[in-house]
Amino acid sequence: MTSPIRITDVSPRDGLQAETTPVPTERKADLVRAVQRTGVREVEVSSFVSPRWIPQLGDAPDLFGLLASEKPSGVVYSALVPNRRGFEGVLAVNRSARETHGVERLVDKVAVFTAASETFSQKNTNATIDETIERFRSIIPSAHEHGMSVRGYVSCVVRCPYEGDVSPAAVADVSRRLLSIGVDEIDLGDTIGAGTPETIEPVIIDTIEALEGRAINSFGDPTLTLHLHDTFGHAAECVGTALELGVRSFDASAGGLGGCPYASTETQRAPGNIALSTLVAALHRGGEDAGVDGDALAAAEALARGLIQ
Ligand code: HMG
Ligand code: MG
Repeated sequence: MTSPIRITDVSPRDGLQAETTPVPTERKADLVRAVQRTGVREVEVSSFVSPRWIPQLGDAPDLFGLLASEKPSGVVYSALVPNRRGFEGVLAVNRSARETHGVERLVDKVAVFTAASETFSQKNTNATIDETIERFRSIIPSAHEHGMSVRGYVSCVVRCPYEGDVSPAAVADVSRRLLSIGVDEIDLGDTIGAGTPETIEPVIIDTIEALEGRAINSFGDPTLTLHLHDTFGHAAECVGTALELGVRSFDASAGGLGGCPYASTETQRAPGNIALSTLVAALHRGGEDAGVDGDALAAAEALARGLIQ
């Protein structure tokens, strides 16, 4: 029997991180609530990164504070962390939710992130791939001690905006290194939406090989996720390819928020992460039940789009 499809909505994080107009924290909480109402069980709520680098998400502790008293059971919240400092921020949020609202664990998962391209790693985190992995090494056992699982993003799995095409072998190599330091799941990021069925297929095949047959981790989660951006309109086809290869976990963003700054022009914002509705339709075409309510989905997408107008 195959495991159910898992969808992680990343709209409050990836969808909003590049928005230059500040979105009020309460509106972000509305977005999280609307996403939850669709039936999606996992939300990447925010990032604990430097507010100098990503000003839009500097309110992460406040946003988690708003959600602390109302997190539905069965919903998983994750947060992006680049370093120890970010991880300490997550621990503080969880401590506060426990003390104030008796919530056992508000943030269930931390997401560390690196890349299969050296230049992208430098531009995104001011660190080499090696340095990012060293930063994560001590975070992972601490996360596990606190009952949190760790997602490891690999960016630029098809192409890098600076270096061009990236080889599937390079992606699998970084995935292996993340797994060797204890990451629980790999998330393959097609950061600039360059992927097509032909180019994403070998990346998935090589990464599955790196996972050495582990489809589900000790938290009961899929070990492999596909994180597509829809810049050039190929994301839905890539979902079809991934399903055929056995991928059971996908990221998406309500309303398709998250237009890639590298692919936008001055007058036109590039399409963002694969829209939740596009993902759901692609899953249905592939014969999968996405577990998403149509009316709630339409409402969440309308709300999401309204945030960036
Ligand atoms: P740095 O400038 O090299 O770090 O940045 P630093 O240690 O020199 O610190 C600089 C300042 O940031 C200091 O403050 C630190 O205290 C502070 P100052 O003294 O200048 O006032 N600082 C922090 N503040 C809050 N939280 C922290 C933190 N760490 C340091 N955790 C750093 C290095 C990694 C911090 C920076 O490069 C950074 O924050 N980068 C994040 C970039 C980012 O969020 N990118 C987008 C996410 S990745 C993505 O979108 C791809 C993905 O979607 C998958 C895909 O599509 O491929 C996941
Ligand atoms: Mg992304």
